[in-house]
Amino acid sequence: MSEILPETLKDPFDRSFRYLRLSVTKRCNFNCTYCLPNGSTRVARHSELSVPEISNLVGALAELGIRKVRLTGGEPTVRADIVEIARAVRAVPGIRQIALTTNGYRLAALGKDLRDAGVTALNVSVDSLHRERFHAITGHDRLPEVLSGIDRALELGFERLKVNVVLLRDINDSEIESFIEWTQGMPISVRFIELMRTGDNGHLFESRHVSSDSLRKRLEDLGWARERGTPESGPAQEWSHSDHLGRVGVIAPYSRGFCETCNRLRITSEGALRLCLFGDSDFSLRSLLQEPSQREELKQVIQELLRRKPSRHLLHEGKFGNVRDLARIGG
Ligand code: 5AD
Ligand code: SF4
Repeated sequence: MSEILPETLKDPFDRSFRYLRLSVTKRCNFNCTYCLPNGSTRVARHSELSVPEISNLVGALAELGIRKVRLTGGEPTVRADIVEIARAVRAVPGIRQIALTTNGYRLAALGKDLRDAGVTALNVSVDSLHRERFHAITGHDRLPEVLSGIDRALELGFERLKVNVVLLRDINDSEIESFIEWTQGMPISVRFIELMRTGDNGHLFESRHVSSDSLRKRLEDLGWARERGTPESGPAQEWSHSDHLGRVGVIAPYSRGFCETCNRLRITSEGALRLCLFGDSDFSLRSLLQEPSQREELKQVIQELLRRKPSRHLLHEGKFGNVRDLARIGG
């Protein structure tokens, strides 16, 4: 018998939302050149959603049809209670998958607790496989720890492991082949991400942006084939190759049609609904996250806000909204 689905969140463009990206902090211990070149600003800890607030939020969203939650940041593992957060999300009826996006620096140490808490998918950022270059991009000489964290995660049986690589012209674009080679014997998905313009990286964007067209061409030349997208794949394009255990993904926000498959809701670490990554309006839900008894009102407000979701971003017109860096909202 097929499952009776609860109501599904939809927007006026008939896009359905089953996937929540929840930022749990803006803080990050890395200073990636394209994201937080000067490190993260100090934030008062109480400004971040508490575990009960997160439970109330995810509880309401699960009743609206959300099935997958990605915990993101900033760097989510800088929160001492990240395992507790994962456990609380896991406990919400209806949530089937929990993923975490991390820079990997605590993965070797935290992987087991996260897996036990119900996290099954990981995205780890690795912008270079050269130790010195990794250091130069992130500001931290941590490549060996991050790579051993990835090995550890595979041993621990995480079901999906993706490696995020933000392509930067003349910095790491010479490594595309090495990253692809890595997928030959490893069940990972390497995702090449096109650099996105934010308020704080204008100069870098001008000199380092690599268009995804050239990347797609290179993949084709190397014998990779593009897979057909599913509703779950969202805006990422997946590629596969018969000789490779792993896969390659391309995230190309500047390509046409990117927004048509948008399937995610974004909530900031302070509990605001952000209707578009590159928009300029956040709507705080925090006052409705205080008691489980507020659930119906919270659901109604979320449904009403979704009616205002824009059809697409305006990056092509040079408008990137009020986003200063992606650490604030988790990319
Ligand atoms: N453009 C593209 N990707 C970015 N990320 C952070 N800032 C940017 C940007 N300006 C990526 C990180 C990480 C993911 C959460 O978002 O590298 O992999
Ligand atoms: Fe931190 Fe990720 Fe931004 Fe790098 S890209 S500074 S790891 S939030």
